[in-house]
Amino acid sequence: MQRWLERVARLVGQDVGLDLSRCRTSTLADVLTALAKALGLAGPDQVLDAAQGPHRRWIVERLISALLVHETFFYRYRAQLEELSDRVFPAILAARPSVFRIWSAGCATGPEPYSLAMIAVDVVQRLGVPTVVQVLGTDLAAEAIDVAKKAIYPGSATMDMPVAWREQFFEKEEAGWFRVKDSVRRLVRFDVHNLAHRPPTGPFHVITCRNVLMYLQQDAQHKAVGALASVLAKDGVLAVGHGESLRGFENLLVPDRGSAVNLYRLAKGIAMASEAMASEAMASEAMASEATPSELMSLGEKPLAPPLSAPVSRAKPPKNTHTIVLKGVYDEQANPQGVASLKAALADAVAGGLSVIIEADGALSLDGATARLILRAMRTCPMPMVVHATRDSVKQWARRYGVPLG
Ligand SMILES: C[S@@+](CC[C@H](N)C(=O)[O-])C[C@H]1O[C@@H](n2cnc3c(N)ncnc32)[C@H](O)[C@@H]1O
Repeated sequence: MQRWLERVARLVGQDVGLDLSRCRTSTLADVLTALAKALGLAGPDQVLDAAQGPHRRWIVERLISALLVHETFFYRYRAQLEELSDRVFPAILAARPSVFRIWSAGCATGPEPYSLAMIAVDVVQRLGVPTVVQVLGTDLAAEAIDVAKKAIYPGSATMDMPVAWREQFFEKEEAGWFRVKDSVRRLVRFDVHNLAHRPPTGPFHVITCRNVLMYLQQDAQHKAVGALASVLAKDGVLAVGHGESLRGFENLLVPDRGSAVNLYRLAKGIAMASEAMASEAMASEAMASEATPSELMSLGEKPLAPPLSAPVSRAKPPKNTHTIVLKGVYDEQANPQGVASLKAALADAVAGGLSVIIEADGALSLDGATARLILRAMRTCPMPMVVHATRDSVKQWARRYGVPLG
């Protein structure tokens, strides 16, 4: 059993970032035996050998479903949901957004996103705002998502709900089961999604990721929190579970002022960058497509230093952040190696899943191709990517090519 545990820990650690010590492993031997039978293999060892081959994905998915805990119920962590209902949702809806977007990340079988949709409908009706509610529920486990889509639950899952809401939002099924009414189901979409991967397209006004991060290894937690922050709206709120905290992620997220119920907002610098990126994204795209690759940005400094052989270096990064320090010439014609090594550093940073700061003041020359490279990385990076510059010439380059500065 121990050797199977170690092999499974490696497998789900590599593929999903799961911390096996937090998972339900007591039935592992039975699960592996059943998988061996289904694949016509001799036993658990052969299943784990087969997981190195073309069956890997199928085997990992089954293992994950068996290992993960999908415990959940309607109106879980009531104090937090009341805070969302009484203070947070009304504050966001006061700006009368046309669509109010909520993401329940790690939603298990669905009670959390349905509860959020019910609360949102209640607040929208109470305030009389003309806002459409859209809730996305995602989970790693496809089986849990299938249950969520059916929206049928035992009465025990609804016991923490306000009694009137049980009448308002559920229909009775047979033998003590309840079905979420279509009026709420219509507002909620479900998808299979791994938090260690690229997040769904944001921004979201509210994101919940409750009782999920605790199942992840530290690296996967960093990636997940970075991904969540990257799609949180500037004034949005991220909710984690009771007893969970985002201590150690202060560079990205800070406790919501006055909230004792585990709500977080984007840290100031990140919020500014996210606003800048949202408002300049379209302009950047247009400008970047107009600029010619060989265009050299004049920085008003003479003479240009000779191209450096290693123009990108990394300063010691603050926790959870990857810093790229620009040094020397970034011009496709004058120093193609400089641009190529920046490209490689950006690719590493994006793949590393951390938030990225580009310190641009050390650049002696920057061209349009470099701007496009950075803009493309900003679009593909699941985590916030910020360019810092204080020198006028660098700021001028950023303005010219629509590179948002944080
Ligand atoms: C205990 S449930 C929490 C459900 C709900 N958020 C709640 O608090 O009631 C944890 C869920 O996290 C999901 N999960 C674990 N790791 C995940 C990952 N890397 N990506 C997405 N979901 C994950 C599990 O499949 C499980 O359904």
